[in-house]
Amino acid sequence: MKKQQIAVLVSGGGTNLQALLDAERDGLIPHGTIALVISNKPGVRALERASERGVENLALDRKSFPSQAAFEEALQTQLKDHGIDLIILAGFLAILSKDFTDRWEKRIINIHPSLIPAFCGAGFYGLKVHEAALARGVKITGATVHYVNEIPDGGEIILQKAVHVQPGDTPEILQRRVMEEAEWQILPRAAEIVCSLLSSQSD
Ligand code: GRF
Repeated sequence: MKKQQIAVLVSGGGTNLQALLDAERDGLIPHGTIALVISNKPGVRALERASERGVENLALDRKSFPSQAAFEEALQTQLKDHGIDLIILAGFLAILSKDFTDRWEKRIINIHPSLIPAFCGAGFYGLKVHEAALARGVKITGATVHYVNEIPDGGEIILQKAVHVQPGDTPEILQRRVMEEAEWQILPRAAEIVCSLLSSQSD
């Protein structure tokens, strides 16, 4: 069985990348292998996590490119050179154009820290998502894995997992609970679902 070659795109701490690396190590992503990690910011913890697990990694510093198109061209070259089949956005904060997402239709997935369609779309990322959930007073939040298209957080939903908001939650406490109880569970599961689907399509 040909394993799907996965590239994980990151921008920061890499806790979702760590969940993927640990799931692969534990045999929970049999149809895929994490072949490459790319950050749009140099020197982030996510790149160290990849190195510690012996996974090839590099930074494409968005600031060192004259345009979004030049950045995406460099990204595309890396992905093609490594024979990547599936892109996973894990805490990746750069925007990808319609040209790019059209080229990778149903081959890019993203983890978003809310139950889409709540608290998602332009401007909703990181702690801002949890600040909005607490401000609205929701009792249930969670995380969503979805396909990526040109609409921020607008692609077909693959998996979701709910998490209770507790009295006294701060955005940081809620973010941590959503990561531990939802993101780190459903992203590896979704990776295996999509890799298995891609494998069956290529058989
Ligand atoms: C977190 O806000 C997480 O909810 C979202 O991206 C941010 C960083 O995640 N998916 P990570 O620790 O870099 O994976």
